[in-house]
This record gives sequence, structure tokens and C-alpha cells, in this order.
Amino acid sequence: MKWLTDNLERFLIWVLSSGPLPRHVAFVMDGNRRYARQHQKRVFEGHSDGFMALRRVLRICMLLGVETVTVYAFSIENFKRSQEEVEALMSLAEDKLIELCEHGDLLDQYGVRLNVLGKRDLLPESVRAAAERAESLTRQNDKAMLNLCMPYTSREEMATALQSTVEEALASDVDLSSLSEKDVDKHLYTSQVGSPPVDILIRTSGVKRLSDFLLWQCCEDTQIQFTPTYWPDFGLRDMIPILLDYQRSMWSRQR
Ligand code: FPP
Repeated sequence: MKWLTDNLERFLIWVLSSGPLPRHVAFVMDGNRRYARQHQKRVFEGHSDGFMALRRVLRICMLLGVETVTVYAFSIENFKRSQEEVEALMSLAEDKLIELCEHGDLLDQYGVRLNVLGKRDLLPESVRAAAERAESLTRQNDKAMLNLCMPYTSREEMATALQSTVEEALASDVDLSSLSEKDVDKHLYTSQVGSPPVDILIRTSGVKRLSDFLLWQCCEDTQIQFTPTYWPDFGLRDMIPILLDYQRSMWSRQR
């Protein structure tokens, strides 16, 4: 049975690869707690199954040849959740970040560089250390990139970018009135690691909001897709209609 599903998956990916594919796909991984409730699981198990979904989706993206995957792993707002849930998410991040980057694991296998983007000084020391270790383990990987946004909000990213832009200009005697959006853009977390423009942004769980994620980056060319599936259940079955829609719009633009 596994042989059959693996080969069916490879066949579907091969068919999709004959059309235009996105270079950069971003995900708002939403619905972990509702999934946990639906399956009579604990909240922590919902997040842990969410991590398994992240592995699954990342593998699909790598097989499709997507260059950059950016995920909303933890919003700055999520610190307002119960202490128990925040600790559970932090300990999940601490354990899984290193695991993901180890020799022979997913990121090594597909040559993926990991970047942790956001206001990192809000993370507990042990998670920050894990993030640094994971980044250094994958620093040489150059086939693709995984941006794990944590703890992140778009408005914090924009405020930080603006601050660095002004500081840099003042340090080099650049007239502030000459600064443009291009200068701010260069200082965004995603630009600093060399991410291409976001082609598709997918939010799971049926919620139709961006929740302060990649607001600057979702320019007019980004396709925003909402799907009802809870993140831990999300997979190739949900990606196919989204990718077909993307291919349809790329083809119609070429006409
Ligand atoms: C949103 O669902 C999800 C999160 C706040 C956490 C996302 C984290 C993961 C998928 C694990 C990622 C891996 C690492 C390395 C940390 P929700 O909790 O808001 O669920 P709800 O919308 O049903 O309430």
C-alpha cells in the first residue's frame, strides 16, 4: 500500500512539474488546536502533528523544486497563550529544529538551508541556541531554503527594517529624504536571507485573514489561497488544486 501511495505521489508531482511552478511558497499553519479537539488529542499533540505536517509539506515542496518555503511557526502574539502551551511549543521547537537539520534528515537530504526569522531575542535562551545550531548545521546547503518565522509579526519586521534603514543611512550620511521603499525592502528579514518574491501564500483551517504575516511581501503578484483543511491534515491532496490554480493563472498571464 505504501509503495502504491509513494509512487502515486511521485507521479502526481511529475505531472505538476510539467507546468510552471512557484519559487516561493509561504504557509500560515493554522488549525492545530481545532484538529486536536476534533481527534480528542491534547493541544500539544496537535502542535506535534503539525510539525509532522511541516515535514510532509516541505518534502513535497522539495520534490516540486520549490526554492523557498516560509512558515509562520510562532507569532509574537502567541506569547499571550497559556504558559503551558507556550512552553510546549518552545520545547517542540528546541527538539525538532536540531532533528530536522541532522545528517541524513530532511534538510540535509534536500540541501535546504534553515533560517529562523523574527524577533529572536524574545525566545528562551535554549531555543535561541537551538536555532543558531540548526542554522549553522545547514549553512552550506544551497539547493533550497526554509524560513521558520518565529517569533514573528509583519509589523515588527517592518518596524525593524525601517529602523535599520534609517540607522544605516545616518551612519553613511545619506539624505533621509532620498530613502525609498526599495531601501526598506532590503532590510526585511526575508530579503536579508535572499528570499525570492512570494508566489503563493496558503492559510489552512478555513480562516480568511493574514494575521500579520508577510504583509509587505504579499505584493500584487502573490496568490493568496485559503483552504479549509486543518494544518496537521494538510498534504499533497490539498496542494494539487492550489498548484493547478497557480498554473492556470500563470498560463493566462502569458497569453
Ligand atoms: C496555529 O494553530 C499554529 C501555531 C500557533 C503553531 C504552529 C507550529 C507548528 C505547526 C509546529 C511547527 C514547528 C516548530 C519547529 C515550532 P492554532 O494553535 O492557532 O490552532 P487553532 O487555530 O485551531 O486554534
